Amino acid sequence: MFSPTFLYSNQLSLVMKILSVVGARPNFMKIAPIADALKAHEDVTHFLVHTGQHYDENMSKLFFDELGIPKPDVNLGVGAGSQSQQTAEMMVELEKVMIDQKPDLVLVVGDCNSALAGAIVASKLHIKLAHIEAGLRSFNWQMPEEINRIVVDKLSNLLFTTEHSANENLKKEGITEGVHFVGNVMIDTLLNSLEKAESSKVLEALNLEAKNYAVLTMHRPGNVDKKEVLEGLLDTLAEISKNIKIVFPIHPRTKKMVEQFGLTEKLNSLQLTEPLGYLDFLKLNSNAKIILTDSGGIQEESTILKVPCVTLRGETERPVTVEVGGSVVVGQDRGKILSAVDTFLNGTAPEPGVPELWDGKAAERIVGEIIKNA
Ligand code: UD1
Repeated sequence: MFSPTFLYSNQLSLVMKILSVVGARPNFMKIAPIADALKAHEDVTHFLVHTGQHYDENMSKLFFDELGIPKPDVNLGVGAGSQSQQTAEMMVELEKVMIDQKPDLVLVVGDCNSALAGAIVASKLHIKLAHIEAGLRSFNWQMPEEINRIVVDKLSNLLFTTEHSANENLKKEGITEGVHFVGNVMIDTLLNSLEKAESSKVLEALNLEAKNYAVLTMHRPGNVDKKEVLEGLLDTLAEISKNIKIVFPIHPRTKKMVEQFGLTEKLNSLQLTEPLGYLDFLKLNSNAKIILTDSGGIQEESTILKVPCVTLRGETERPVTVEVGGSVVVGQDRGKILSAVDTFLNGTAPEPGVPELWDGKAAERIVGEIIKNA
């Protein structure tokens, strides 16, 4: 498929250098099992770049510590900014690192701006590019992530997919070479961490009783960046909280918007926490009665945890979670949200199935393919 220029290490062995780019919270659980699987290959060196897109201790460092991810070789410290400013600043810095490091392959994960920046820079430097979580499409061009997904996939030489719909999407876009259906690295991390998460004391710390609370996460610009939309959602959530306690680890973006719109009082019926670490959040989710979220990754995790998920978006790029019965997509409509929550709280929804290859071995397959195609 492609033949990277191997570097000679000590003149004895051939070494392939992989440079991975991460930056936002959901990237960290995706890179963890890959970094682990790469360690087993002495003929591969792994150089990890953190763009600094997420920089709060509990949005970044905590995940590295808990998941045993190697310390980034470099942190670009880019931080917050508009979509273009953030991406452009990452690109300028990534170009310097890639020119200096001369990797054989650049690896990007997911759909955040850090992945987009890494993909564009690698392509322009004619470095082979691999994308983990390729092919997902929401068909909603208002989402910055949708633009990122399409651009990254178009530029990638190796595309690793989590579900069959992704392969079909890529095929429709004319991308058929280098596509590998491998399963889901986020689920590798979840399965690897379940036992460790058991010892988390988060339920005691938040005074919660297992299966007697809901977990809420909400940070998408489409839900939180317009006052009337955010206000409507918070009113609906207040209604739900009359029936079940709602725990809300609030994302910094949402917190900022709630304050900016003067909606702080609307949070009164929710039990707020700071963003949680991976293990506390996993324990919290596994013991929840239901999950309400606009996050794609949490739709996937809740499916495996068999906790019903009400997806607060108009569409999902992860349709397999709906097909196997793990989540329902309700958008921002009050009636639909209330009815879905009611069904899950009072009905007897069948247990969801497990999507194909979400078995904890995706990273092994990916690393195997990378080595095979090198
Ligand atoms: C990004 C990803 C999104 C992912 C989400 C997970 C893009 C386009 N979006 O969205 O796909 O679901 O991460 O969190 O890449 N902030 C802090 N501290 C932090 C990080 C962010 O205060 O550590 C605040 C900043 O004010 C920033 C805002 O949150 O402006 C948004 O952060 P940003 O990285 O731009 O996007 P997310 O909304 O986190």
